[in-house]
Amino acid sequence: MISDQADKLRKMAQGVRQQIEAEMMGISRKTRTVVISSGKGGVGKSTLALNLSLSLCSEGQRVILLDADLGLANIDVMLGLSPEYHIQHLVQGRKSLKDIIITGPLGLKIIPGGSGINELANLSDAELNRILIEVGKVDGDYDYMVIDTGAGISKNVISFMLAADEVIVITTPEPTSLTDAYGCVKTIAKQSYAGGVSVVINQVSDNNEGLMVAEKFRLVCKQFLNVDIKLLGSIPSDSLVGEVVRQQKALMQAYPRSTAARHIQNIARRLVNLGGMASPAESGGSGIKKFFQKITRFMRDHG
Ligand SMILES: Nc1ncnc2c1ncn2[C@@H]1O[C@H](COP(=O)(O)OP(=O)(O)OP(=O)(O)O)[C@@H](O)[C@H]1O
Ligand SMILES: [Mg+2]
Repeated sequence: MISDQADKLRKMAQGVRQQIEAEMMGISRKTRTVVISSGKGGVGKSTLALNLSLSLCSEGQRVILLDADLGLANIDVMLGLSPEYHIQHLVQGRKSLKDIIITGPLGLKIIPGGSGINELANLSDAELNRILIEVGKVDGDYDYMVIDTGAGISKNVISFMLAADEVIVITTPEPTSLTDAYGCVKTIAKQSYAGGVSVVINQVSDNNEGLMVAEKFRLVCKQFLNVDIKLLGSIPSDSLVGEVVRQQKALMQAYPRSTAARHIQNIARRLVNLGGMASPAESGGSGIKKFFQKITRFMRDHG
């Protein structure tokens, strides 16, 4: 009888300890937020955002993709999906976050974009708190939140970059694209951005061109901005990238063995390894809630 009770107590204590451990894990493993920007339009942000997200999924990571191109949100169009609700429904209090999230290939979760994010800046504190509680509910449910941004270096795009754990700047080898990519890095450096910055060179003719352009970009950023840029990799020009747009499928889904897809998969692996290089406490990110808090604060301060 006594030993029965002792056994029960021991089991209870064990359960409580496991719960505390799980909660502590949850706290230290916040979602890592990764913003994709370029300055110049049409250089491959959405292509990378979607296919990098899918590559991360295929590496066993839990990923949510936020379509934050406020002008021409189009991740859903790229996949032939027609979401019923958008982020606007969340911001206006008409739907919960869980209601607006849709599921894409490989279990990828997507928050359909649109102009709703702009409205965050105009919310009352109480309304904003409601949204932060909502997004806080899914913090830790994902290893990565990938954020696709629009062209240009607008106030919104700056706020996304500054709020990110990692900014991936994507550029082609074209001088105009490189100048705009440099502009992105310069903008966040001036604002004392403390997260990671890395570069992807898109539409290269071969790996050598990718390496050469990336190395030049890295040196210029180091010399003039004192920013250390990591080289995540390059993506070759591949006619299949355009082909899948017409099929309304993702490259990773339709042609996972294509040259461009394999390069993006390598970029995903490097991104995961970057996280692994940080200390255990930093290996997660600062989370989705923190990300929304930061962009809202920036938008309000610069309204
Ligand atoms: N590696 C590639 N090889 C061939 N075509 C590519 C490649 N990357 C992107 N493209 C094509 O370039 C065009 C622009 O790509 P994408 O829409 O990803 O750019 P973006 O930076 O998101 O544009 P925007 O600034 O308008 O949002 C698309 O037609 C896409 O199919
Ligand atoms: Mg785009």
